Order: sequence, then C-alpha cells, then structure tokens
Amino acid sequence: MAPEALIPRPDTLQVGWGWFQILLTVTFVLHILFMNALLGGAFVSLLGGMRRSGAGQVAGHDASHRVPTLVALTVNAGVAPLLFLQVLYGHLFYTSSVVMAGWWLAIIPLLIIGYYAAYGVAWGSNRALRPVLATGVVLILAFIGFMFVNNNTMALVPAHWTGWFETSDGSLLNLSEPTIWPRWLHMMIGAVAVGGLFVALIQDNKARRGDAEAAKARDWALPFFTHGSLAQMAVGLWWLMALPDPVMKQFMGGSPFASILLVAGIGLGVWAVVLGFQKKVRLAAGAVVATVLVMALMREVVRFGYLDGVFHPRDLAVEPQLSPLILFLAVFVIGIGCVAYMLRLAARAGKEA
Ligand code: HEM
Repeated sequence: MAPEALIPRPDTLQVGWGWFQILLTVTFVLHILFMNALLGGAFVSLLGGMRRSGAGQVAGHDASHRVPTLVALTVNAGVAPLLFLQVLYGHLFYTSSVVMAGWWLAIIPLLIIGYYAAYGVAWGSNRALRPVLATGVVLILAFIGFMFVNNNTMALVPAHWTGWFETSDGSLLNLSEPTIWPRWLHMMIGAVAVGGLFVALIQDNKARRGDAEAAKARDWALPFFTHGSLAQMAVGLWWLMALPDPVMKQFMGGSPFASILLVAGIGLGVWAVVLGFQKKVRLAAGAVVATVLVMALMREVVRFGYLDGVFHPRDLAVEPQLSPLILFLAVFVIGIGCVAYMLRLAARAGKEA
C-alpha cells in the first residue's frame, strides 16, 4: 500500500495557516521551557537531595519544592501547542498517535504516578524513600519525552506508519528513524542544562537578598547549565548530521532562512554559555529563551523539510471566520495575565508563611 493513501483528509481552517503556525511555535516554546525547568529541576533535585548538607543539598531541596508546580505548568502549557498542532497537522499527528497508541496512552497514568512521586519528594516525611521517588520522577519524565519524540517524528514520515500492519497492538515505536536518539538526547540534555539554570536563578534571587548559602548553591547548580550546554552542542551537531540529506542541506546554505537560524542559534547558545561561566544568571536566562525560540523555529524548518512533497499547511482550504480567532486572542492575553498574576501570588505566599 502507498503510505500517502494512509493520510486522512485534513479539516478546513477559519483563518490563514500562518496564524496557527505562529501560535504553535510560541506556545511550544512556553511548553518546552516549563518542561526543561521540570525535568532538569527534578534531575538537579535528585542529585542535590542525595547530599545531607552543603550547597547541593540547598539547591536540590529548593528545586524539589518547585517540581510539583512545574508538572502542572508543563502539562497545561502542553495543551496549547496540542490545539494548534491538531489544527495544522492533526491528520498526521493523530494517525501516528493511533499507530503507537499503547505507549501514547501509557503517558497519562505514568504522568499521574510521576506527579504523586514529585509531591512525595518535596513534602514526604520518609527521607530514605526520597531518592527512590526522585529517580522515578526523572525516569518517568524522560520516558514521556521519548514518547513525544517518537510521536513527533513518526507524524512526519507516513511511510513509517505501515509498520502498524505488522505490529497492530499499539506497541509500534519509530526506532527506525535515524534522528530519534539524537533528537531525544537533545531534548533531555537541553532540559538538564536549562533546568540547572532555572535552579541557579532561584538561588541567585536569594543571593541578591543577601543569603550567602544561596550564592554557593547557585554556583553548585551553574555547571549543570554550562557543561550541559556544551554537551548539547555536540548532540545538536549529531542531530543535524542524522537528518535526511535534503532537510540537512537547508541549514547548509540550501535555504538562507534556515542557515541564518542555525548560525543565530549557535551564536546565542554560545553567548548563553559564556554568560553562565561569568555567573551572569539573569542575562544567561534571557539568552536561553532567545536560543530556544530560534531552535523552535529550526524545528519547524525540519518539519517542513520532512513533509516536503507530502503536505504543507498552506494547502489547507480556508473558510474565513474571524470571530473565533479574535475571541481566542482576547482570552489568550487575559489568560496569560491571570497566570502571571497567579504565579506572583504563589511566589509571595511562601514568604508570608
Ligand atoms: C510532563 C511531561 C512532558 C514531557 C517531559 C514532555 C516533553 C516533550 C518533548 C521532549 C517534546 C518535543 C518532542 C519533539 O520535538 O520530538 C514535546 C512536544 C510536545 N508536547 Fe510535551 N511533554 C510533556 C507533557 C505534555 C502534555 C501533557 C502535553 C499536552 C497536553 C504536551 C504537548 C506537547 C505537544 C503538542 C508537543 C509537540 C508540539 C509540536 O510538534 O510542535 N506535552 N513534549
């Protein structure tokens, strides 16, 4: 059977595809930043929590208390890109979700277990159990990340869906995809690096208020960011080289836009690491957000490259209907404002107690 015959017919759009593409990219950046703080924060809290005292213990303890909230923020910030993904690429993404349904559905109970375990690490009274729970949280999150990478890559190659005819029990993975391991490692090491920076940022804020212990905890957490980012560059190069030739060549001059993104991404990443080594934590955080934004754009270039000749969202029919978009944008802006206000209140609540 020709794999293209397996692609379902997509729905029509109410406004031009560019709107959804921008919203998908912006909300994905939000999701991935929260995911990085979550997974990296959980990893740092695991390593720090194993110490009985000292800077690592302080950093790990503080990070562990942020992890349950970050689970909620990551999941909720994941819903938004899921909405836009299904509008533009739903016919591809849902088909790949069905093909790997067993793994995909396993994410929900695993996430619930991980969420409970995160609470156990942060607030549980049994010290001996904490490293076990913390290891469980990190492993579950890394596994979920792997499932997302499987699904996101499988959605791009309808030819891989035909594996379902041999493995129709929902246990198919996209392991024949050459980019699967570097893509997953890039996501995971990136999470440890950005998570390390997140932990350093918490401690830096405390150090600025005169807490000398916090300054040491910040310095303990920063190498997760600096060294993790250096490793990230090597894995990023591996991912780039593993891409199918026509996709990779876009970044090597084939497409000026893609090539500029690559140079900008590397430049911003290097700048962030230099700032990290200089302990300029806040500036480094700004540089990281810019780097992740550029990387997210590169990820879209990769998606278009894979789907070249199969599908492009510009081909979707548009039946103009503006009011839902206006209503959505209004609710979106108000919602972001409410979440920012809520986070400020939550940050203050601890201090009052
Ligand atoms: C809390 C655990 C989670 C982790 C560790 C995680 C991790 C990831 C990773 C690593 C990717 C990138 C995959 C790739 O590019 O190959 C990703 C993408 C994505 N995640 Fe999550 N995720 C989590 C939860 C969720 C949830 C609960 C949702 C939805 C409700 C969600 C929605 C998405 C969407 C829609 C994308 C893809 C966006 C796109 O292709 O443009 N995530 N996630």
